[in-house]
Amino acid sequence: MNILVIGGGGREHAIIRKLKENPTVDLIYAIPGNGGISYDAECIDMKATDLERILAFTEDHDIGFAVVGPDDPLALGAVDLLLSRGIPTFGPSKDAAVIESSKVFAKDLMQRYDIPTATYDVFYTAESALDHVERTKTYPIVLKADGLALGKGVIIAETKEQAAQAVVNMMIQRVFGNSGDRIVIEEYLSGPEVSVLAFTDSKTLVPMVSSMDHKRAFDHDRGPNTGGMGTIAPNPYYTEEMADRCMKEIFLPTMAAMNQEGRPFKGCLYFGLMLTEQGPKVIEYNCRFGDPETQVVLPLLATDLLTILQAVVSEDLASVPVAFREGAACCVVAASGGYPGAYSTGYPIRGLSDGQPRDPHSHGVSVYHAGTRREEDRLLTAGGRVLGVTGVGPDLESAIERAYKGIAEIDFEDIHYRRDIGRRALLWQPSDESKE
Ligand code: AMP
Ligand code: GLY
Repeated sequence: MNILVIGGGGREHAIIRKLKENPTVDLIYAIPGNGGISYDAECIDMKATDLERILAFTEDHDIGFAVVGPDDPLALGAVDLLLSRGIPTFGPSKDAAVIESSKVFAKDLMQRYDIPTATYDVFYTAESALDHVERTKTYPIVLKADGLALGKGVIIAETKEQAAQAVVNMMIQRVFGNSGDRIVIEEYLSGPEVSVLAFTDSKTLVPMVSSMDHKRAFDHDRGPNTGGMGTIAPNPYYTEEMADRCMKEIFLPTMAAMNQEGRPFKGCLYFGLMLTEQGPKVIEYNCRFGDPETQVVLPLLATDLLTILQAVVSEDLASVPVAFREGAACCVVAASGGYPGAYSTGYPIRGLSDGQPRDPHSHGVSVYHAGTRREEDRLLTAGGRVLGVTGVGPDLESAIERAYKGIAEIDFEDIHYRRDIGRRALLWQPSDESKE
């Protein structure tokens, strides 16, 4: 069977490498893919959002199954279109993808269906938002642009001045374009963060192994927010008891709420959670696999991925026993110096062979490419996040050690990566459970 994967980041590379484990898969096309993905799939030079060209491509390439990775083609209705051409496609419809593409929709959904989240207000004009900021006594507060903003639309304002500046940036200067037409201002929550990705066909919901993202650019969670500088799985703060509670209070109610709204969600639903002293609360929903969460979650998946994705599309997820391996995974992202601000690209990447670790004995290490370009047999940097090095081991300590050993073999000009991915997770003690 030929498979089409839309997207070209580390998440899609992890999906492709996992799909390849299925012996019925002949050829995988990636649109657009990237330099490293080109060793595992045939990359087609089209934008992931150019749905007309993508449809034309599928006409003569006998695609038996498709997976849509990123949020923007999902929000544009890529899945609806491919399904309408008879191609079984994994991902939510446009109507269901709104759970990520509109924060106002997501917050109102949670409020209507009693799903725990930060208290909030919605503002349609800069004037009313500034008035609210002026009247707010306790800081920090959190400001969120309504629409997609490349993960940069959330501002945690420590002071009134910062909050007012954020309103001006979003609603008057419109730095996120239309995404700033409406904004959410919400309560600041604190506690350990957990990412849980779940397969759902709108009838059954199966959470995957939990993970922890590291969003800030620098060690000790300092510096600006990024798309994610590294991940570990499983997340030790997410105990079995917490998992049961989240299933009852958050995951199943969200699936039911989307059905009730006439927007059944079929695909991977991402729950960004904060474990506060009052219990788990939703920070955000994403309508897709997380990046770089996928790079630690899928390596631990024991069940065939294609079988699960097909069952989601045919609404038969209940019939597939989904299992994860024991052990742990850690992904460290190598970024271009300067990211998430300005950075240079085009630097040769040293230390890889066909995109993977050179040493065939580098046991338990995989490299997932995000921003790389291939020129014959040379790989060059081509983005802010360049690659993610994932180590898998019997426990978190060994997974972290393998990831760092793997990344130490790789080099390019101005390489930047955090040295403390997983450190907070290692500090977790069983006694922490009682505090949550
Ligand atoms: P998002 O882009 O929605 O993933 O948000 C980025 C990050 O902002 C999250 O991972 C949290 O660390 C933080 N954040 C978002 N909402 C809140 C909140 N209400 N309280 C505290 N931190 C938040
Ligand atoms: N790692 C967060 C996200 O995928 O949005």
